[in-house]
Amino acid sequence: MMVKAVSLLAVFLSLSQAALHAYVAQTSLGGVLYLVNRRYALSQHYEPADLVAPRVPGGDKTGTLMREEAALALEQLFAAALAEGQELVASSGYRSYKKQATIWDNKVSQVGRRKAQLYVAPPGASEHQLGLAMDLARKSNGHLNAAFGKSEEGRWVAQNAHRFGYIVRYRADWTDITGYADEPWHIRYVGREHAQTIVEMDIPLETYVEQLSAAAFGEYLREDGE
Ligand code: DAL
Ligand code: ZN
Repeated sequence: MMVKAVSLLAVFLSLSQAALHAYVAQTSLGGVLYLVNRRYALSQHYEPADLVAPRVPGGDKTGTLMREEAALALEQLFAAALAEGQELVASSGYRSYKKQATIWDNKVSQVGRRKAQLYVAPPGASEHQLGLAMDLARKSNGHLNAAFGKSEEGRWVAQNAHRFGYIVRYRADWTDITGYADEPWHIRYVGREHAQTIVEMDIPLETYVEQLSAAAFGEYLREDGE
């Protein structure tokens, strides 16, 4: 991870100042790179203003809304998957703070807090509240479990989601960084450019955003020295 982080920093530092600043702007609330996790939680009042229903199977439910840009990209992803014989279903998109609190409370009472926190974010700490995440299922099997990752549909998602601006957000080998176990069904929209680099670097979003901030800070120090 260290070597990847160093080369990612080099990628960011090779950008023009304007491009670097445009990237940094996307890490603000409302931007596609906004990082949400247990360390960086959202206010209970945050709700995106541009939620729409993606026109995909399962996308017509209130629980599958997404921000407009992410919804359009999801429609393209589903169309490409279908063209290649993979039938996906949208299972869970935007969740309010209150809805996440209910999911969290239910999971804690089912499996206890320690196990629950590997799979479910506490209220405020879920990127579903951003309207930029979607849980996917197979048409033939609606379960969100490890079997999705091993299925043809899940493998297609892992190999192709970045072409549409999505990343598979939680992986077993990143648990120390993300805090979550493997979730091959949970995809997060970051835009095509960032998804491409994140997949090439094979790193979690936390590392990407951290390196972007480090590069911007380096840029700031250089500007200051001039
Ligand atoms: N399952 C993911 C971590 C969430 O609850 O947001
Ligand atoms: Zn999810």
